[in-house]
Amino acid sequence: MILNENYTLGNGLTIPKIALGTWQMSEEQAEQASLAAIRTGYRHIDTAAAYCNEKGVGRALKACGIPRGELFVTSKIPAEIKSYKQAKESIRNSLDYIGSEIDLILIHSPTPWDELWGNGNRYYEENLEVWKALEEEHRAGNIRALGVSNFNADDIRNILSHCEIKPLVNQICVYIGNVPKGVIEYCKDENILVEAYSPNATGRLKNNATVAETAKKYGVSVPRLGIRFCLQLGLLPLPKTVHEEYIRQNADVDFNISDGDMQLLLSL
Ligand SMILES: NC(=O)c1ccc[n+]([C@@H]2O[C@H](COP(=O)([O-])OP(=O)(O)OC[C@H]3O[C@@H](n4cnc5c(N)ncnc54)[C@H](OP(=O)(O)O)[C@@H]3O)[C@@H](O)[C@H]2O)c1
Repeated sequence: MILNENYTLGNGLTIPKIALGTWQMSEEQAEQASLAAIRTGYRHIDTAAAYCNEKGVGRALKACGIPRGELFVTSKIPAEIKSYKQAKESIRNSLDYIGSEIDLILIHSPTPWDELWGNGNRYYEENLEVWKALEEEHRAGNIRALGVSNFNADDIRNILSHCEIKPLVNQICVYIGNVPKGVIEYCKDENILVEAYSPNATGRLKNNATVAETAKKYGVSVPRLGIRFCLQLGLLPLPKTVHEEYIRQNADVDFNISDGDMQLLLSL
């Protein structure tokens, strides 16, 4: 069962194969959804400073009754933070809100959001400064693994060629119809685990007729097909839902999409 399965990161740390996503949840919703997920058997929650709900996730981790060592929490340094000093402050705040230790912290984006597809500045120097802050907190024992998000191969190469502690995760947007094969292959070659955010296309996956038909063929909902698809690509999906019933359904993905149907879905 997926809830009992882990990947192993390049530093030997195990990371549960599925996480609850919490983007667009209030602090209260993140607390309640995290508690529901942990009750269901999830052991991995994905949050970010920019979601403004880390305190809710932190409260759930403390209240859930499961030893902290059995839970895995990811947070992120906001995309707009591009200096060492601000990165240190952001990490301190995340540690205060979530607890004394965070399993994984990512740089949320190589560029500020409004420049992601923009003017060509990839903020190489600035991301190295942010990375330095992450490395210090890792050495101090406050973060167990470091990673990036929305990074392309050149953005990662920049970190790899200057870092002392390697990025072990790249969290990117992957769903049926949006599979960035180049960066996924690059990450696999570098032993960087790829996490699939928006595996349900932020709720839009059901609008594709082929996806809906394929889900029907397997007798599953479209979100479950989308999550299973990511797992069969060797990725770590982060489905978001505030509903306990969906939280449960989204972890019920022990079915197999045939090779032929994987090819069909990959062609969309
Ligand atoms: N690193 C980044 O830049 C980045 C960017 C985007 C997302 N993320 C992470 O990835 C997570 C997931 O991505 P996402 O939030 O874009 O959304 P998603 O997981 O692709 O889809 C969420 C939507 O699907 C609905 N849903 C989920 N399970 C369902 C089910 N079984 N049946 C029916 N509807 C269902 C949810 O509704 P309800 O909530 O109403 O149930 C919500 O509207 C985020 O929460 C965040 O943690 C990271």
